[in-house]
Parts: sequence; structure tokens; C-alpha cells
Amino acid sequence: MRAPNPLRLLEGRYPLNDRPGGLSGLGAVLPAVDLTEEFTQEEIDVIQQASHDAGGIVVFPDQTKLTPAHHVAFARQLGEIEPHAVAAGIDGYPEVLEIVREADAKVVFGEDWHSDNSFMQQTCSFSILRGTGVMPRRGSNDTLFSSTEAAYAALSPHMQNFLGTLTAYHSANKAYGAGSAGNSFAAMQNTAHGQNAMRMRVEAPILDTDYAHPVVTVHPDTGRRSLFVSPTFTKHIHGMSAEESTALLSFIYSWIAKPQFSQRVSWSKHQVTMWDNRSLSHKGIADILDERRIVHRVSIRGHAPFGVEGWQRCA
Ligand code: SIN
Repeated sequence: MRAPNPLRLLEGRYPLNDRPGGLSGLGAVLPAVDLTEEFTQEEIDVIQQASHDAGGIVVFPDQTKLTPAHHVAFARQLGEIEPHAVAAGIDGYPEVLEIVREADAKVVFGEDWHSDNSFMQQTCSFSILRGTGVMPRRGSNDTLFSSTEAAYAALSPHMQNFLGTLTAYHSANKAYGAGSAGNSFAAMQNTAHGQNAMRMRVEAPILDTDYAHPVVTVHPDTGRRSLFVSPTFTKHIHGMSAEESTALLSFIYSWIAKPQFSQRVSWSKHQVTMWDNRSLSHKGIADILDERRIVHRVSIRGHAPFGVEGWQRCA
């Protein structure tokens, strides 16, 4: 019997959005992949390479048979799962973060730009987000991505070199700590009309620890450089005054948010979108808040991010 060809997973692959003038290469749809399958390592390599080739966004449509167990099993094939350090998982699957957006939500989880788990020492490689049966109309409440690699590449060499010398502190407390209204903690508490449909962990020691990461990171597989700060989790740049740090971070945030680096992923029921947090920043757009939306996220633990200095290809 002939061994199955891993490239079968790329059959029918097409770009997510081929609009002229934009980053048309950002994002690919892989209609031939059925995520309930158990993949060989070669097949996992093909899926990861498809993600690298598409700047870090891969969409798997119509995963109608996918259960939380399949979701977790697929994620495990990509690496070790990192359960969310502040929110609790769903019953039976502590690895699955359920992101609930009520029809009358005032604060939305993940609404501002971020890279998942950048507040951890070992940050997130891939996130795998699954649309459940509870999804709003297509084209509303999409997920917006920005290629932080394209944003880095578009900077002047002087700015690239300068940012490559810096590190910045990332903090879970900034996003989830009590006391700052409008943050994701408030969003979680305010789901289900105050009944806290998004569950919090009883203890979250990460709220007491910040980690410093390079402002410019290097992707361990592709060697591509990226801007690794976000308004959601980054607190300040090491060694700078508050005024200097705030001004520089504001510039980087507005630079990353430029439309020419972005890609919008619309959702269908049972769609799965996988993205690479080392190449992208993302945010959940909250534009039409009159329908419920429930998505499930599983995230893969990566590594402590590599900076430009002393970086060597891992392979
Ligand atoms: C997230 O930040 O992981 C969630 C994005 C979304 O809800 O679209």
C-alpha cells in the first residue's frame, strides 16, 4: 500500500483574501484538511509550512464534526498546550478557553491588539480558534490580524536597528488585573449578564509576575523578524523613562495597526482559524454587538522569544 501523500492536505488551497493593494499573501484557506484526523509528523509539518507561507494565518472551513476532544488532540500534535493562566477552561477540557461574547456585551475579551500569552515567559506559538455553533452573522465580529513581520520590514533600517536593541515588560496584570475598567477581566466578568460565563481561575500567580521580551523577535522556524509589543500586555520599555517609553510604544502600536499590514478573518459556524503569534498581532473586532458569539481557543506553548542579538536558527 502506498503511504498517503502529506501534500494532499494542500489540495484546493486558496488565499484568504486576494484584494489588490493589501497583503494578499496573508492568510490561506485549506479546505482539504479534516481536523478530526490524526496526522503524521510529515502532515503536521505541511500544515505548519502552509502557515509560514501564508504569513501565519490558516483557515480550516467546515469542521462540522470537530469536538473539544478533537480540538485538543490536533493542538497536541503541534506542541504542548498552554492552558490560559487567568481564565479557566471548559468542563472536561481545562485546555480549552471558551471566549463568550454576549449580545449586549460592553467590554469584549481580546478587543485590543495582542499576541496571545505574551505575558508568559514562554510565549504562544500557535493559537487555534474554533467557531462553535453560536456565531454571529458572517462579516461581523471578525478577527483582525496584523503582520508584525510586514510592519517590522516596512520600518527604516535606523528604526529597525534601534528597536532591535530594546526589551519591554509584558504583564498579565495589565490586561486581567482587577481595577482597570474596560480590560479583559471586566469582559470575562461581564459575560452572561454578570453571571460570569467566562470562568476565572481561583488562583492566577501570573498576575504577580511580568516578563521582559525583546521588542524585535526572530521566528525560530523562518528567521523572520517581528515587532513584539502590544497595547494589551506591554507595560513599558526597559531602561526608558515613562514618557519615552509611552511615546515609543504609541508609535509602534499605531504602526502595527496600519491597514496595509492587516487581514480580516470572517467567521462561519464550525470554522477553525489557526494563527502564529510570533508573526502576528490580532484583535477581536466588536462591531455588531447584538448577537452572541462563542469561540473556543487552544494555544500552544512556544519558547522564550528570541531577540536579534545572538539569535541562531534552532534547526
Ligand atoms: C483572541 O484574542 O484570541 C480572540 C479573538 C477573537 O475572539 O476573535
